[in-house]
Amino acid sequence: MSQIIKIKDVAQYLDQEVTFQGWLYNKRSSGKLRFLLVRDGSETIQCVVFKGDVPEEIFDDATKLTQESALRITGVIAKDERSALGYEMQVKGLEIVSLADEYPITKKEHGTDFLMDHRHLWLRSSRQHAIIRIRHEIIRSAREFFDDRGFTLVDTPIFTPNAAEGTTNLFETDYFDEKAYLAQSGQLYGEAAAMAFGDIYCFGPTFRAEKSKTRRHLTEFWMIEPEMAFCDLEKDMQVAEEFITHIVKSVLKNRRNELVILERDIEKLEKIEAPFPKIHYDDAVEILKKNNIDFEYGGDFGGTDETVISEQFDRPVIVHRYPAAVKAFYMKRDDKNPDLALAMDMLAPEGYGEIIGGSQREDDHQVLLDRVKEHNLPEKAFAWYLDIRKYGSVPHAGFGLGIERTVSWICGLNHVRETIPFPRFMNRLYP
Ligand code: 4AD
Ligand code: MG
Repeated sequence: MSQIIKIKDVAQYLDQEVTFQGWLYNKRSSGKLRFLLVRDGSETIQCVVFKGDVPEEIFDDATKLTQESALRITGVIAKDERSALGYEMQVKGLEIVSLADEYPITKKEHGTDFLMDHRHLWLRSSRQHAIIRIRHEIIRSAREFFDDRGFTLVDTPIFTPNAAEGTTNLFETDYFDEKAYLAQSGQLYGEAAAMAFGDIYCFGPTFRAEKSKTRRHLTEFWMIEPEMAFCDLEKDMQVAEEFITHIVKSVLKNRRNELVILERDIEKLEKIEAPFPKIHYDDAVEILKKNNIDFEYGGDFGGTDETVISEQFDRPVIVHRYPAAVKAFYMKRDDKNPDLALAMDMLAPEGYGEIIGGSQREDDHQVLLDRVKEHNLPEKAFAWYLDIRKYGSVPHAGFGLGIERTVSWICGLNHVRETIPFPRFMNRLYP
């Protein structure tokens, strides 16, 4: 066996003998030749076995290899202008690590349910690789954005005694002799942390018992949530647009190949540049009216409404100052119109809908206490949260970006189910 290398580094080994360890992605046979497409996780390469070049047992092994068999393969690296990688291997040696059973995922079209049931295997396909690598880049660049600006990462709990985003979609669980809820958001803890560190962000899984079967809803999804002390809604929106611009630019720079594999219209992403259009809720309602959408003023936007609004713009649009009645209890009201909350949602273009939800928070103790009561929330569970307003309360704001919806938009997918390695949504707990 020669030096083991990753396929992605193959260019450095032209004309040298090396070994790859990986899996058989595909195989073609033609007379005295076996074309083995080998994947090692980093890349895929064609390895050519010529009967005259190898001992008979090795040619026989190459013949009996099944799809997804694990192997070690040794040979000399040559140029191959026809392949995307630009190189191929002329095989000298082959070791079967384990022969795979007949692989259930074949080239024929499979239904979504079948693929979802085989998600543990489906992840090996090139399309899924591209999506998961873009997801990684989105998360990496999102953290980088806040890290570079001096935000402190503060992890927030998953078992919580209180509801952050309404009580209708809580996952409840026994917590010894008490009830606990899986976190819907880290925000409330983020606010406490912002009073300790100034600028913070949290990043973790969040849970909502969404009974809706839409292309945008998961029951377990990842959210990155910055929270900033001494910050108002205007600055909050500005940070959000710079943040999204940074993420899109990073994906374009570092994961362009993957976007090509997904056949994403890259020109549309290249237009994403701050500042983004920012429109008042009233203006958004006007857009719906002009497009003959049946919408009652005062309500929250549904999926179709968001699509119609976002289709008016070539970059994400921020809608601000929603009716307080349809938004969370913790949002500060607008001085100029107390029926409106200092809230903002960012809607992605091309009909992808809301990717960010954020707001300026209520910072007055008495007002917030009244809100807790109005919403029939248990005062005891929120006592610590109210406390924050007693000890050096300041204007503060933040937002949450849903990772999966962002992946869906940037990759140009038609459902969030492929944006996370093992998705959880209604009727899907397996694998
Ligand atoms: O608008 P939401 O509910 O806002 C919050 O949770 C705030 N506490 C955030 C904050 O201000 N710190 O959710 C934020 C984002 C949405 O814009 C969406 O991208 C995503 O989280 N999201 C979901 N993604 C997938 N499946 C679901 N069921 C989602 N619910 C929200
Ligand atoms: Mg929202």
